[in-house]
Amino acid sequence: MKAYLAERVLSSMRCGVVTVDRHGAVTTLNEQASRYLRVRFPVPEGTACRELFAHCPAVAHLLLDALDRKTLPDRAELELVLDGERQVLIGFSLSQITDAKGAVVGSAIFFKDLTLVEQEREREALRNRLASLGEVAAQLAHEVRNRLGGIRLFLGLARRRLEGDDEGCAYLDRAEGEVLAANGKMGEILDYVRPLNLDRVPTAVGGLLREALESTLARFPDAEVAVTWALAPELPLIPVDPERLRDAFANLFANAVEAMGDRGTLHVAACMEESSVLVDAPGKVDIPGLRGYGESLSPRLRVDVFDSGPGMPPEVLRRVFQPFYTTKDHGSGLGISSAQKVFDAHTGSLDLRSVPGAGTHFTVRLPVAEEVVSA
Ligand SMILES: Nc1ncnc2c1ncn2[C@@H]1O[C@H](COP(=O)(O)OP(=O)(O)O)[C@@H](O)[C@H]1O
Ligand SMILES: [Mg+2]
Repeated sequence: MKAYLAERVLSSMRCGVVTVDRHGAVTTLNEQASRYLRVRFPVPEGTACRELFAHCPAVAHLLLDALDRKTLPDRAELELVLDGERQVLIGFSLSQITDAKGAVVGSAIFFKDLTLVEQEREREALRNRLASLGEVAAQLAHEVRNRLGGIRLFLGLARRRLEGDDEGCAYLDRAEGEVLAANGKMGEILDYVRPLNLDRVPTAVGGLLREALESTLARFPDAEVAVTWALAPELPLIPVDPERLRDAFANLFANAVEAMGDRGTLHVAACMEESSVLVDAPGKVDIPGLRGYGESLSPRLRVDVFDSGPGMPPEVLRRVFQPFYTTKDHGSGLGISSAQKVFDAHTGSLDLRSVPGAGTHFTVRLPVAEEVVSA
């Protein structure tokens, strides 16, 4: 009976549990662990953990290392890449399993998938960064714009004096061009850091994607882009700010077209999906000091954009989400960051996979009903 109960406890637990014996053979692995770590369930008796976790060797390493360690981590985090691309973050603690005499006979790892929590942390950090950056930028822009206005005024006065002097006026034109460009740049920065107030209306995202792509392609009349669509039938109307969202997708499309150069193929797909999302879940009882999140499945509209461009080398991939990062001569470096800001304001997300030589793939997920941003 006790063994049955222990087994039920293990399989009902919402955290992953794996234990190994002194020889490194897996002695326990619950269903949650098999799901998180993508291994078969149940595990055949005696399977070596190095073999079972060949696709994520860090887990085997931690378990084997724990057999002989004096101190063990209570609350540690580990980033794993599963299936060669899915990056997950697990929070774990390790224990030694001892016999009645205190001799170590095995080790155990208890862990939770913190990927969603981490994504939420990153979103929060981005929001905070933008809020403080916004204040500084607004003040700076005000100062600089006043002075640029002054310079333009004096350029106008100088032009009057130089009437008839073509060469002198040409210099003034160039100076004025620079002033306007600087003013434009300030506007761009201010736009990016300004808080977004969404004007939501129920919107058919399929139509919106087509408009965004049309307006993008119109900007690149020489590009020969073959476009394929895979829009699932009967996608629901979702409450979004159509203008903001159109601009955000147009940024992604523009990047794809720019990356592909003269010709390429662009594939755009949209469908519904059930996605794990984080919800505030401290429970109904009001307990001081209680904080918590829960995961729940929620319907999402998923949009995928694939381009056949050159893809991104790792150093670019690492930095694409940074505002002002660009590899282009006249790039703003704000395309992806501002798109991400728009998706985030809709409590959606933007993910990116890119392999040099194999193109780039963006995935956007948007909630189908308005959600409160957890503070
Ligand atoms: N689809 C893509 N394919 C390859 N590289 C891309 C793609 N999208 C973005 N990038 C890279 O990310 C950088 C940042 O993009 P973005 O934020 O839109 O700024 P910008 O387009 O002004 O450079 C680009 O300069 C480019 O190097
Ligand atoms: Mg761009």
